[in-house]
Amino acid sequence: MNKTILLKNRPKGRPSTSDFAFIEEEKPAPKEGELLLKAKYVSVDPYLRGRMRDTKSYIEPFKLDEPVESGIVAEVIESNNSNFEKGDFVNGMLQWKQYQTSSGNGLNKVNKETAPLSAYLGVLGLTGITAYLGLEKIGNLKEGETLVVSGASGAVGSIVGQIGKIKGCNVIGIAGSDEKIKTIKDKFGFDEGINYKTTQDMSKALKKHCPDGIDVYFDNVGGEILDAVMNNINKYGRVINCGAISLYNESETPTGPRHEGTLIKKSVRMQGFTVRDFVKEFGPAISQLSTWLNEGKITFSETIVEGFDQIPQAFLDLFDGKNKGKMLVKVY
Ligand SMILES: NC(=O)c1ccc[n+]([C@@H]2O[C@H](COP(=O)([O-])OP(=O)(O)OC[C@H]3O[C@@H](n4cnc5c(N)ncnc54)[C@H](OP(=O)(O)O)[C@@H]3O)[C@@H](O)[C@H]2O)c1
Repeated sequence: MNKTILLKNRPKGRPSTSDFAFIEEEKPAPKEGELLLKAKYVSVDPYLRGRMRDTKSYIEPFKLDEPVESGIVAEVIESNNSNFEKGDFVNGMLQWKQYQTSSGNGLNKVNKETAPLSAYLGVLGLTGITAYLGLEKIGNLKEGETLVVSGASGAVGSIVGQIGKIKGCNVIGIAGSDEKIKTIKDKFGFDEGINYKTTQDMSKALKKHCPDGIDVYFDNVGGEILDAVMNNINKYGRVINCGAISLYNESETPTGPRHEGTLIKKSVRMQGFTVRDFVKEFGPAISQLSTWLNEGKITFSETIVEGFDQIPQAFLDLFDGKNKGKMLVKVY
């Protein structure tokens, strides 16, 4: 049999496991031109929360009572498509099913000899590409500048900080535990870190760690941390609005300080970033990330949860910061 995970409810506020339903179906048979895929690693990502709302976005919302989908690395079990062979591994946007058929469109072959399969959903996948292209397209980092990144020990944030160091910047990370702060400094080479959960006054803490002000802010969390960064932003500063996880479970958008004055007086550029706008540049981005990985200039962390049934819980755990680096589920 073939387990599948459906979206059962559109969550209000924080999602829970009861918003998902498990069903069992017959294992599908591939038609002419199709492949049969077996899921190996499933990526769970904060942006999936947005797809659970019935609102227009840069990507279609999930439909109720239909399978959830995310980035998945799968093995080709049967192939009726001359572009793929049994035993190939592929990466693509696939459904939360143990087995599924595919036409092969949108799938990329991945090589497990070059990198561990899980890395194609992290540092060599959308995560790494987001970090790299966010900085390239909006950050415009210059040597000697101060880069601040939130969600610093997470999948995107940990890569952002390391790229900042490659570019010769002073890099300050913001994350949610002392253990994570230690990791971003010891493993990823950040210069300093701030635990936002134990810091009373983020503005003051940023001022202390960024005595020359902040030139570039890679924002993964939004909300009050963004407000504190804006109090310390430099003239011609750049803010990359990549994510706003602190707001994803809010039903109403909370109001905060107005940033127009700062943006105008300091000629700051604040720009929303959606990695999918740059699909044509994914190839060069992966190539650069692979080079840095092979040269030992970047490294990565993963939290790998085991078992297909754990996929919804692994997703929910992102909102409690239970992951270190990329959150993945290994499916047998
Ligand atoms: N724009 C794009 O194209 C694009 C693409 C990929 C990802 N993103 C965004 O980038 C961000 C990071 O994604 P990711 O996949 O790398 O996830 P991640 O950072 O690996 O995981 C999420 C992390 O967010 C932190 N967090 C959770 N709730 C928080 C809160 N209320 N305030 C502050 N931090 C909180 C947690 O770490 P702590 O322990 O530090 O709290 C958690 O580990 C997300 O906002 C995501 O939506 C955007």
